[in-house]
Amino acid sequence: MRVLEVKRLKKIYSWMSSHYKRLIIRVFDSFLPLGGELDLKGYVVLRGYIPEGINLEEKDELEKFLLSDRYILDIFQSYIGSKTFEYSELWEAPSSSSSGVWHHDSVGHRVKVFVSLSDASDNLGTQIIPNTHKMCYQDYNHTRLKVSKKNEAEAQLITMNRRDVLIFDTNAIHRGVYGKRTRIVHQFELCTGLKGKMLPGHIGVRSD
Ligand SMILES: [Fe+2]
Repeated sequence: MRVLEVKRLKKIYSWMSSHYKRLIIRVFDSFLPLGGELDLKGYVVLRGYIPEGINLEEKDELEKFLLSDRYILDIFQSYIGSKTFEYSELWEAPSSSSSGVWHHDSVGHRVKVFVSLSDASDNLGTQIIPNTHKMCYQDYNHTRLKVSKKNEAEAQLITMNRRDVLIFDTNAIHRGVYGKRTRIVHQFELCTGLKGKMLPGHIGVRSD
């Protein structure tokens, strides 16, 4: 009996939290411009874009460059309406991860920027299905998706060399392709501040 009650309560909580997330996401996302170059496919790849003079290991230097480059700023501004990074970290890809399953990031529209510190190897990288960035999802608790063979065939694998930049909307259907070789990126995120506060743990500073 107790086990059944707990299960039922969990179900109710899951239903409420999914509705809450969907409402917050729908409302905040409706104010976003969602235009410009990023809107064409849901991602933009800039090859060798970070100049040699910028020290990739210095996050502050890299951040300063990204936030002073007119072309990049225009991509941010015309899509997400923000020019502020709310979260950043140096990230080293593990050999496998749950991000290797097709998914969206459960937060609606959010821009992620990867700057690669390593060179591409063994076809590892990020796969994105073009033009899925404007999808509306019903469930923001369960974000792992089954993708049709047709959609999978359209997926683009973006492998990155040092100094390449990938900018994408994490609302698009994507997955990481993992393997033994090391892949290191600085990642930066842009979103609207208030939405981040109302969806704790997903946007901005992580609680764990
Ligand atoms: Fe993701």
